[in-house]
Amino acid sequence: MASARSNNGQTRAGRSRRASRPRRWQIKNADCLKALPTLDAASVDVIITDPPYGINFNNMTWDRPSALDPAHKPGRRAPNADPSAAFQSFSAQWSAECLRVLKPGGHLAAFAAPRTFHLLARGLEEAGLELRDVLMWIQGQGYPATRVLPGGLGTGLKPAWEPIMLARRPLDGSTEHNLAEHGTGAMNIDACRVELSQQDCPTEGRAHGRRITASPQGRWPANLLLSHGESCNGAQCEPDCPIGLLGERHRFFYAAKASRRERDAGCEALPRRVVQTFKIGARNEQLCEDHPVANIHPTVKPIDLMRWLVRLLTPPGGLVLDPFAGSGSTGAAALLEGARFLGIEREAAYVPIARARITHWSRQGPRCQAARRSPQRHRT
Ligand SMILES: C[S@@+](CC[C@H](N)C(=O)[O-])C[C@H]1O[C@@H](n2cnc3c(N)ncnc32)[C@H](O)[C@@H]1O
Repeated sequence: MASARSNNGQTRAGRSRRASRPRRWQIKNADCLKALPTLDAASVDVIITDPPYGINFNNMTWDRPSALDPAHKPGRRAPNADPSAAFQSFSAQWSAECLRVLKPGGHLAAFAAPRTFHLLARGLEEAGLELRDVLMWIQGQGYPATRVLPGGLGTGLKPAWEPIMLARRPLDGSTEHNLAEHGTGAMNIDACRVELSQQDCPTEGRAHGRRITASPQGRWPANLLLSHGESCNGAQCEPDCPIGLLGERHRFFYAAKASRRERDAGCEALPRRVVQTFKIGARNEQLCEDHPVANIHPTVKPIDLMRWLVRLLTPPGGLVLDPFAGSGSTGAAALLEGARFLGIEREAAYVPIARARITHWSRQGPRCQAARRSPQRHRT
């Protein structure tokens, strides 16, 4: 692993027994702007991360552009008074370190907000990464954090999708040379094909005037990803579930939103607190009161979605880095996919949650093997 200094909640005996074996995962409690420069150059196969969006999400200090500005000193007035400039400068700074630690041809996938993803894109490019694509994850069910004004007026829309910026460190020579030398530079298309559904008509596609048949291996993965609602099950979808609304004839990857059970799995020994995890409304506030949670992170990503990204972008047994690890969803996904993982998280409160969740999911080995063998199944 690129660097390994803190423990991961392992016992001393367990640590010494495993001392000779390379660590499969680690979470460092650190500011990534300080921790990334300590990692070896070209030591990481892929970076999959969900960085701050710079939109003051839920009034979290870690998402406030002025506090993210690398030039900002706590207690002093931010030198970069323009929030967009502050966010872009932050994005460029962590991206530059990511470029350095990535192997040539290594991919970087970073979630973003529709309102600020152009600033992240500029930051990635300023750092020297190549933008390859923008994936769209439709989760359909964000909360409209906007002002409601009299007369049916409001100041914003319901956030129903999130961009995922896909970038790559420039190749070392040709794709073939890069793959042979570094194992990076291409995506694992076959591992992420979308299984054909019952409704698929084999000759329905058309390209360049020719009829084409769907590959029996499944459909080529698309840059559009969709999520079920939290309470959808195999038999029925919630009324506003995007997959339910699109109907049965779907041809994209599907991942359910992280349920309360998934967010808390592995955290049974951690203290519980009341936080807003249900949708807004008096009834839901009561539900929160009645159901304290151990995973207090407000922006937990679904593990299935993160697994798909890991599967697509990570060479076999590769090292996945998440410099903004939060409650550890990327780490859980990496371990489930048989990869190694290094996470960095600055807020001490999230670190035990991330370690507990990754420990839990790292023990679910058989799922990992099954997922590597077969393409993603539909879930409606
Ligand atoms: C959007 S959240 C990630 C959530 C994560 N995907 C999950 O599923 O739990 C971004 C995280 O970055 C952390 N963070 C913000 N600035 C940081 C920095 N400079 N270094 C390390 N972590 C940072 C925040 O504390 C927050 O937990």
